Amino acid sequence: MKGNQTMPNTAIRIQQFTKEYPVPRQKEKRVAVSNLTLAVPTGGLFGFLGPNGAGKTTTIKMLLGFLPPTVGEAWLFDRPVGDDRARQRVGYLPEQPYFPKFLSALEVVKAHAGLSGLAGNRAKERIELCLRQVNMWDNRHMILSKCSKGMTQRVGLASALVGDPDLLIMDEPSSGLDPLGRKELRELLTALKNDGKTIFLSSHLLSEMESVCDRVGVMARGKLVACGTPAEITRAGDGVRVQIEQAERDEVLNTQIADWGGSVEAAGEGSAYLRVPSALVYKVMGLLETRRARLVAVTSQRETLEDAFLRLVS
Ligand SMILES: Nc1ncnc2c1ncn2[C@@H]1O[C@H](COP(=O)(O)OP(=O)(O)OP(=O)(O)O)[C@@H](O)[C@H]1O
Ligand SMILES: [Mg+2]
Repeated sequence: MKGNQTMPNTAIRIQQFTKEYPVPRQKEKRVAVSNLTLAVPTGGLFGFLGPNGAGKTTTIKMLLGFLPPTVGEAWLFDRPVGDDRARQRVGYLPEQPYFPKFLSALEVVKAHAGLSGLAGNRAKERIELCLRQVNMWDNRHMILSKCSKGMTQRVGLASALVGDPDLLIMDEPSSGLDPLGRKELRELLTALKNDGKTIFLSSHLLSEMESVCDRVGVMARGKLVACGTPAEITRAGDGVRVQIEQAERDEVLNTQIADWGGSVEAAGEGSAYLRVPSALVYKVMGLLETRRARLVAVTSQRETLEDAFLRLVS
């Protein structure tokens, strides 16, 4: 938070956003976003999820005032998106960051620091900190035409962060990053969150985002189909999955599991999954001991965010 500005409770408020794009040689318009109403609380990480073409980038562009909505309005920290004082508090990482190829990583981040109103020592400090945060300090003099896709993404990320924004809007931030880069990104997002920042990001990488998202909104065909905490969105399964290893197929075990209302599914040689009601888990453990089956893992059958996503968008 800057100066003595008070922090509103809502970082982003979208009221009935609709965007229609004209389609060449057709009378009918393409509805990219339809009647979207959404509030993102201040602090924490909001995952804006949805398959290709769901309307995420269109929403983000309207939110930043780059694209006028056909219908609807939005506010950043309670100020209309067009208000400069609202935009000053926002850092943006576009889906495909584009920078002049002849500039170095350092020059790009410096230019963004200037755009954010930073100067002097404060600018220097922020530039170095952000380039270090994205692991580009050692490569800061590399010109963009020599940077790999992942390195360009890191420069984009440093540019979005350099103004120390209260709200960071990121469109597919993990795109182009290798597994280590994605892990570092998650750590960076967690640190920013712990520092009180609000992060709004779109992503396809649901299994990775599950651990860092405080809330998610799921878009499908331009509409918001679900919104809440990951726990609210995923359905609880009514049982557990028990993975076992056994020397050979055991009919006695299989019959008993079926009698208890469970099922057995072979999973390759010597391995099987039992699905059983949660209440019977200790009975099953006892049975496994008498049948000399080796227990490998017991997991809840709760949906993952990815399962919920596939259910919601199909
Ligand atoms: N400038 C444009 N003109 C016409 N149609 C567009 C334009 N931009 C996007 N669209 C259409 O709007 C819909 C939503 O696109 P958008 O880019 O917002 O989706 P997205 O959720 O960001 O997808 P992705 O995950 O692939 O980035 C798509 O059907 C797309 O073809
Ligand atoms: Mg997009």
